[in-house]
Amino acid sequence: MQYLSSNGLLKLTFTIFILVALGFISNSSIAWQRYDQGCNSCHGGFFSGVSPKGTTIPFNNKHEMHINANYMDAACNLCHGGQGVSYLASSGGTNTNPGIGCIGCHGRSYDGIGYSAAGLRRHHFNTGTTSCAGCHSNDPEPLPENIKPTYYGTVDTNIDDPCNLEPDFLENWSIGDTLGLDNDGDGLYDGEDGDCIICPADLTGDDVVNIDDIFAVLGLWGNCPDPCPPYCDGDLTEDCMVNIDDIFAILGQWGPCE
Ligand code: HEC
Ligand code: HEC
Ligand code: HEC
Ligand code: HEC
Repeated sequence: MQYLSSNGLLKLTFTIFILVALGFISNSSIAWQRYDQGCNSCHGGFFSGVSPKGTTIPFNNKHEMHINANYMDAACNLCHGGQGVSYLASSGGTNTNPGIGCIGCHGRSYDGIGYSAAGLRRHHFNTGTTSCAGCHSNDPEPLPENIKPTYYGTVDTNIDDPCNLEPDFLENWSIGDTLGLDNDGDGLYDGEDGDCIICPADLTGDDVVNIDDIFAVLGLWGNCPDPCPPYCDGDLTEDCMVNIDDIFAILGQWGPCE
């Protein structure tokens, strides 16, 4: 009797284990491959103006913001084609572009790994949405802001510049005080990101990296404000501290800016 019940318990445990395992596998292989499988829980429908970022979406419609000729003017098959519903990482593609879906603009191509939205997920993580990291634990270190996503600068869209600059922000498609995309997820947008500044160590902006920039770093010395990132002025190494390493970074870029 005792033997039977412990055997029953074993079977029950085994069954629960299998069910949990199956549930887990189907979750991780099906969920989140499309916008409507989870993104919409925070971002609302793609045909809505809902934005957890606080952005004012033109026409109150994210789909329209992406396709309208006065905005991104994205060709339908950058996101659609073949499958009927939009996938995050695949689409029909066009004569000019591969069918990589949303990551054509919200991701980049990484050597040895292929296309990935590592920077988008880093942006989520750094702004408090930590849930992406659980399923995407193998993300590469995001490429710097100035590297163009695959679809940028092609005939299939108006988007060209990941380093959109003040004061015009010509490619700031949403309305208001937002600055396009934070492609590398470090909290700094487009032209405000150090990666977009040709001569980051030129803190004084006089087109030469010299002793004045060392004095500038000394004036900014210490820990960056909390929360960090976004990184602070003078923190060239992006480690949330203005210290001796930033002086070495200046020495490494010594001389006139090109
Ligand atoms: C748990 C809520 C949540 C989910 C789920 C979510 N997001 Fe977000 N997302 C946010 C928040 C919050 C922000 C804005 C953070 C900020 O910039 O202040 C954001 C920002 C963004 C941005 C703007 C990035 C930038 O550079 O400014 C894009 C694009 C985006 N999300 C796409 C997606 C996609 C695609 C998915 C599904 C794979 C998704 N999000 C799922 C909460 C979420
Ligand atoms: C930026 C990516 C993107 C582009 C570009 C795009 N779509 Fe969509 N489209 C989506 C997403 C996301 C949905 C939401 C449902 C889904 O996942 O299919 C959608 C849904 C639709 C739907 C279904 C509407 C509904 O209510 O069910 C139609 C029709 C559609 N798109 C047509 C187009 C046409 C036509 C173009 C080109 C002019 C286009 N789309 C370009 C991403 C895009
Ligand atoms: C042609 C390039 C391109 C493609 C393809 C593209 N996006 Fe975007 N998307 C952008 C840009 C650029 C922005 C930022 C616009 C701005 O705020 O100026 C954006 C903004 C967004 C936002 C709004 C974030 C917010 O709240 O402000 C969401 C959500 C989003 N994209 C999801 C998607 C999804 C899902 C797909 C695929 C179905 C997709 N995008 C495909 C370029 C693209
Ligand atoms: C429940 C697990 C799960 C969660 C949580 C999740 N994803 Fe995914 N995601 C997947 C799966 C599965 C795929 C498809 C397989 C793949 O390409 O890795 C995928 C693919 C993607 C892709 C296209 C492929 C790539 O490498 O970029 C994007 C973009 C994406 N997810 C963004 C996000 C973002 C942003 C979040 C957090 C808001 C998130 N995901 C959270 C499971 C998840």
